[in-house]
Amino acid sequence: MEYILDMQNISKTFPGVKALDGVQLKVRPGEVHALMGENGAGKSTLMKILMGIYTMDPGGAITFNGQPYVVHNPKEAMDTGVAMIHQELNPILDMTVYENIFVGRELRKHGIVDKKAEIEEAKRLIEECGLHVSPTETLRHLTVAQCQLIEIIKAISVNAKVIIMDEPTAAITDREVELLFGHIRRLKAKGVAIIYISHRMDEIFAICDSVTVYRDGRYIGCGTTKELDEAALIKMMVGREITDVFPKLEAKIGETIFEAKHVTRADNKVRDVSISVKRGEILGIGGLVGAGRSELVEGIFGMHRLSGGEITVKGKPVHVHSPADIIREGVALVTEDRKVTGLNLTGSVNDNISMVAIHKTLVNGLYSKGKARKLSQEYIEKLNIKTPSGDQIVGNLSGGNQQKVVISKWLLNDPDIIIMDEPTRGIDVGAKRDIYLLIGSLVQQGKAVIIISSEIPELMGVCDRIVVMAEGHMSGEMSRADFSQESIMRLASDIAV
Ligand SMILES: Nc1ncnc2c1ncn2[C@@H]1O[C@H](COP(=O)(O)OP(=O)(O)OP(=O)(O)O)[C@@H](O)[C@H]1O
Ligand SMILES: [Mg+2]
Repeated sequence: MEYILDMQNISKTFPGVKALDGVQLKVRPGEVHALMGENGAGKSTLMKILMGIYTMDPGGAITFNGQPYVVHNPKEAMDTGVAMIHQELNPILDMTVYENIFVGRELRKHGIVDKKAEIEEAKRLIEECGLHVSPTETLRHLTVAQCQLIEIIKAISVNAKVIIMDEPTAAITDREVELLFGHIRRLKAKGVAIIYISHRMDEIFAICDSVTVYRDGRYIGCGTTKELDEAALIKMMVGREITDVFPKLEAKIGETIFEAKHVTRADNKVRDVSISVKRGEILGIGGLVGAGRSELVEGIFGMHRLSGGEITVKGKPVHVHSPADIIREGVALVTEDRKVTGLNLTGSVNDNISMVAIHKTLVNGLYSKGKARKLSQEYIEKLNIKTPSGDQIVGNLSGGNQQKVVISKWLLNDPDIIIMDEPTRGIDVGAKRDIYLLIGSLVQQGKAVIIISSEIPELMGVCDRIVVMAEGHMSGEMSRADFSQESIMRLASDIAV
């Protein structure tokens, strides 16, 4: 048997959207197979079909382990040997580690759940995996990386032959990514196949053996990572060549418009950090995930108490007690955490985009749906948000397209200073380029942008200046002429230069 999983002619139609149109996916045992494509290409939808969450349209065929594969829910999928490492763990945060591992397949003695046996078996599995958590701990108290490992343990313990990882590195630190890759290699060695979804090229070439590419719900091609390179993959995904992945527009640099001096958080997660940005300037904040960069901007935004620091916007000192105090001064914070940013997943695209800039949707003092629609249509086009219409529920959009809605929502408020925390995470190459161009046009209008990013090439490509943080403090700063991957990495790990 050459393929452990063979999906042929798979289609899926949602109201107004053909998410998949006769695609195929063939996965060999023991390989890491990347599934790639632009935002909305249909990757997550295919995986949900495989997990029995969605039913495919008639005409498709799935063979697993040489047998026809028919499942109706995730439990049946797991029983058959297909597991998925979930990103959205919210509903089960109150469960303990051992309960989570055995949910739906409890160990029983005389018909009663044998807690003791479950705890013991969970302990053994956890130790085997090199994880240091108690089986009776609730998931709420674990980091995202630890939760992921619990999901992996679960997959191993049900003897999964195929494990799906849909953007598994989105919320974990760089060190944890290395750990995850270690586990992936061990699974591979055991003959387990991994379906790996990510928009990060470096990861694809670091861990994957082969790649299947979709575009707009259609199958484009398949190949090995040895025979393909980044440019070839981009061309398959986008349909054309992209030569300048990080376009930079020329802008005139003016006076300092935003300053945060000696910022120290009461919880000490940020210590004595000072940053400033000028009109027309793009400032980057680099560092490893966990270096305190998000903690810094959340502190500046009044989401956490500061024990020290002065904030000046357009020459005026601002006392920030809550985000509203600084938003009022024309500062916006675009985060990648869609819950903090307040995406209303059950609301429409139009409502979400116009939410912050509500004053722009008023006609004679009253909310005008027509005006909100017009404003949001402008951004749907600018950022190429893939949706049948502005009336679509945001929760139905693909992950990357939801992130584009977050960005639109804050830009529409027309801020002068825009702070973006990992704005392009989960966003495909072509759309990233659109976002860099949009950022470029903002600074050309005399606005200032601060970008936090873990992708060094992105920072080097679009910023005028970069400050680097490590372990809660600032470890260095450099201007564009002095940018180098090596010196940024050195500052990020805070090795004396
Ligand atoms: N439940 C749903 N109802 C309606 N449309 C949906 C639903 N789920 C997905 N879609 C649509 O199907 C298409 C494919 O979405 P999918 O989430 O599979 O994309 P993706 O390739 O995973 O993208 P991303 O890289 O952004 O995560 C999109 O146009 C999306 O809006
Ligand atoms: Mg997806």
